[in-house]
Amino acid sequence: MAKKRRYVCSACGQMENGWTGKCPACGQWGTMEEMLVEPTAHRPSEGPRPAGRPARILSQIQLEDQSRLDTGMEELNRVLGGGLVPDSLTMLTARPGAGKSTLLLQLCAELSKRGARALYASGEESLSQIRARADRLFDHLPEQVYLMAGNSMDQVEGEVSRLHPNLLVIDSVQTFIKEAYPQRQGTPTQTLAVTDAAVGLCKSGPAPLATFLVGHMTKADEMAGLRTLEHLVDTVLYLEDGVDDRLRLLRSSKNRFGYTGELGLFQMDERGLSEVRDPYALFLTKREAPVAGAAISLQREGSRLIPIEIEALVSTSSEPYPARIGDSIKRDRLNTLIAILEQKAGFHLTNQAVVLKATGGLAIKERVLDLPILMAIASSAQNRPLSPSEAFLAEVGLTGELKRVDNLSQRLSELKRLGFRRVYVPAFTEKRTEQDFQVLPCKDLQTVLDLALKAH
Ligand code: TYD
Ligand code: MG
Repeated sequence: MAKKRRYVCSACGQMENGWTGKCPACGQWGTMEEMLVEPTAHRPSEGPRPAGRPARILSQIQLEDQSRLDTGMEELNRVLGGGLVPDSLTMLTARPGAGKSTLLLQLCAELSKRGARALYASGEESLSQIRARADRLFDHLPEQVYLMAGNSMDQVEGEVSRLHPNLLVIDSVQTFIKEAYPQRQGTPTQTLAVTDAAVGLCKSGPAPLATFLVGHMTKADEMAGLRTLEHLVDTVLYLEDGVDDRLRLLRSSKNRFGYTGELGLFQMDERGLSEVRDPYALFLTKREAPVAGAAISLQREGSRLIPIEIEALVSTSSEPYPARIGDSIKRDRLNTLIAILEQKAGFHLTNQAVVLKATGGLAIKERVLDLPILMAIASSAQNRPLSPSEAFLAEVGLTGELKRVDNLSQRLSELKRLGFRRVYVPAFTEKRTEQDFQVLPCKDLQTVLDLALKAH
């Protein structure tokens, strides 16, 4: 049966029957690429479909054993939702040079140490380049790691059926091809075909096979090629840069087997990516003396609490609309908080520019950061530092009152562990006065300002 032609937008995945210069969905020019589609052999009008698997009653379906593989890296285990699911397909994407190949070669070695077999197929580097990376990363080369260099996904399939690996790495999906298609590598047809083949290998192969696909990222920080790839895989991981140029934040934006807000922290050094267990030092600035305009809190990232330092700079502006800039906070929220500071605490910020930033490259998400944001702005406006041993945890209402905090007791234990001595929290929280640790419930913003901004 003849193959049908379709045209797919390489930017957004829109599919059209005819070629167009401009994608009707996303409006980009020159992104429609030809793709050949196999027509389905059986249509309803052509008689009964072959017997497939009949539908089954939900309660009679057995749960499959989802025992997970330990990746040897706690940070990776956490982001995956508690280890690697044996027949899962994961996409790992990041800017070039972020450390994708390094992380996956380390993963191969860790699994090999645990008795598993890994096949690493590279369409980007030669065998000797990968060997050189391995020499740099490992004291003892792993026993059960097989390498292949090339671009043929068909050959990868052959090697998978010969070697029966437990882990397969395709580095990268944009550099492999399925030989049945005439298109170049990196075209939507090829990336889809390669991903489809990978789905086939891990979902219907003879043994459970966990597969990682490396995906290129475009300048716009999106996965190059088709968005539709994200629907085909179980998990999508992003390896992002932190503010410190060696810090890497691993996040899942989709995970069929776990929570998606998880964050894994790594640091790139001479021996590859190492795990950052205690993020305290990375997210807080070391200082000899306290400075005005900085306030500390804790933000939840997945299942962990990360210390976060808010920095604010308030300066006089002659512009009719002074700048309100915060790269990690929504502008509306910043404006609302500034209005609260003006109306409820008597600050005059109308002719003041306010710039806000969170250290460590984390976005300001939780409302519990309202109070530290307000305190950082107030501290900068008055040019009086807050004590570096004090932290702030509270949502602030439009009335200036402090509101409840989720997981307060967990946050307090973490701040205590990190060595903070005093924490400002909303009223009706239990007051604690221990020798080195004080929990101070306050009813409103003004109370915190009075207590925390006095001279130290
Ligand atoms: P790589 O894993 O090749 O990145 P990607 O696959 O995402 O393009 O890592 C690239 C960078 O990491 C490169 O600039 C060198 C650096 N690097 C280290 O700093 N230490 C190491 O041990 C290794 C292997 C790489
Ligand atoms: Mg690479």
